[in-house]
Amino acid sequence: MKTLEVDLGGRSYPIYIGSGILSQSELYGQHIKGSEVLVVTNETVAPLYLDAVLDQLKAYKTATVILPDGEQHKSLAVLNKIFDALLINKFGRRATLIALGGGVVGDMGGFAAACYQRGIPFIQIPTTLLAQVDSSVGGKTGVNHPLGKNMIGAFYQPQCVIADTDVLATLDDRQLSAGLAEVIKYGLIRDADFFVWLDYNLPALLARDKQTLAFAVERSCINKAQVVAEDETESGVRATLNLGHTFGHAIETGMGYGEYLHGEAVAIGTCQAADLSRHKGWITDDDVEKIIAIFKKARLPVVPPDSLSVEQFLQFMSVDKKNVDGDIRLILLKAIGEASLPVGVDQNLLRLTLETYKG
Ligand code: NAD
Ligand code: GLY
Repeated sequence: MKTLEVDLGGRSYPIYIGSGILSQSELYGQHIKGSEVLVVTNETVAPLYLDAVLDQLKAYKTATVILPDGEQHKSLAVLNKIFDALLINKFGRRATLIALGGGVVGDMGGFAAACYQRGIPFIQIPTTLLAQVDSSVGGKTGVNHPLGKNMIGAFYQPQCVIADTDVLATLDDRQLSAGLAEVIKYGLIRDADFFVWLDYNLPALLARDKQTLAFAVERSCINKAQVVAEDETESGVRATLNLGHTFGHAIETGMGYGEYLHGEAVAIGTCQAADLSRHKGWITDDDVEKIIAIFKKARLPVVPPDSLSVEQFLQFMSVDKKNVDGDIRLILLKAIGEASLPVGVDQNLLRLTLETYKG
């Protein structure tokens, strides 16, 4: 098992990465202070891994909430089911919430923990590649609003992250590829050597070679932990983790939550951001080709949906947390391995990308 640290002073916490660690009860014990534990998961993950987690929690009073599966359920209405369970069980401030699942369960579980009685401890057990490499680390929690993705939420750090790489065996191929979009992101924004490594190792990752996957999870978490330690609440460098996300969120919201997986929308959005970076003269045609090629190699889409018009893109992109005074600000690329901070963009260049980029 590897242990990384997210260095946030008094709110620092470990990320455990390893094979079979879901069943190591001592990992839980170190991070649960009270006697009550609520496990939040969903209808797909529960039959696969809930018992293995509950087996480690026999010393505690436990309750479970099984949420409906899907991005369309990452809503305030469904969040209430978690509060219902905490209250029905009369759980107090020392209760610990465990979020067992992908990014949707992790974001919702974390947000519920941030809100319940003004904050109870929580543990992330990410079960998708995307959640292991990105969403479980860094304390962004929240839910979607019909008018905007992740628009309601809080920064709230977990007590620890337990990333058992064995659980990736049950992920379907589409979800594995979606996770790779966020892995590739780290190469693009700050880790050029990792980009080269990924380009070479994508076939092994897609074939689920265990060591290769474990390395990709670890290297991604090292990158994420460094960025979060530097800028926990996104006043600067953390925004670079949003490369491609403003376009991507427009696709997710505009097409209806769940139609495109988050990672798929990010892959397309990153290609659009790369195209715009080229129009600004920051990266070359060759760079853009390499970026499109690596997403294709990861079996991800690179072309925005025809049915989303330029005007709809602009409308949804105008609802984004990086925007200032109504102006769209984007993360663009200065090179493969180097992202800009949020920049205001010339509307003509943005329109050029939205009108002409077709993969
Ligand atoms: P997800 O949570 O919807 O999980 C994807 C699918 O895989 C679901 O159907 C889920 O039930 C299933 N699943 C989960 N684990 C499984 C396993 N081991 N075996 C089989 N099936 C499994 O999606 P995701 O891609 O994990 O997360 C996307 C969400 O994460 C989005 O809402 C996105 O906004 C959010 N996100 C948050 C952050 C953050 O910093 N908080 C970062 C990136 C993404
Ligand atoms: N996934 C973006 C962030 O954590 O900041």
